[in-house]
Amino acid sequence: MSLLSIIEVPDPLLRAQSAPVERVDDDLKRLIAEMFETMYQAPGIGLAAIQVAVPRRLLLIDLQDPDPVPEGEEEGPPIKRPYVFINPEIVHRSDQRKCYNEGCLSIPEQYAEIERPDVVKARWLDEQGNERQGEFDGLMSVCLQHEVDHLNGILFIDHLSRLKRDMIVKKVVKARKDRETAAIL
Ligand code: NI
Repeated sequence: MSLLSIIEVPDPLLRAQSAPVERVDDDLKRLIAEMFETMYQAPGIGLAAIQVAVPRRLLLIDLQDPDPVPEGEEEGPPIKRPYVFINPEIVHRSDQRKCYNEGCLSIPEQYAEIERPDVVKARWLDEQGNERQGEFDGLMSVCLQHEVDHLNGILFIDHLSRLKRDMIVKKVVKARKDRETAAIL
């Protein structure tokens, strides 16, 4: 199993419209497994295929939150609850909106408060190719909306003013350049 590289802003591929997945086959399952490895390693809680330069409508989410523990007991390691969304469609968005502090593996180390609908209903195919539907709130809803945006070439910074957006991209570019040219001693 190999780790995939995650593309970062301002890579123009992040602006591409991803095309529907036509077949849930072994190649797709391999890609899903490699994307999970890549996401856990990053670490992140969501990853869209376009972020590993595959313009297909596929995304993964795993909030990896620990189970609630009785008071006084140590928190265990995060529990893995992997979700695979193939050709996801958000079919309903609540009028009520909520703010969340978001980041993105393609915009490393930059965060911003983004307002989105609180609750969404979605339809998708799972990794067996079965049709699924569900309603999501909280972090799961934020994550699903952020990742579906990726499939449409939209980044969380597009929900900010142009000035803020440009500043964030500049910071990412500069940090990458610094990293590449610095003598690490
Ligand atoms: Ni992202």
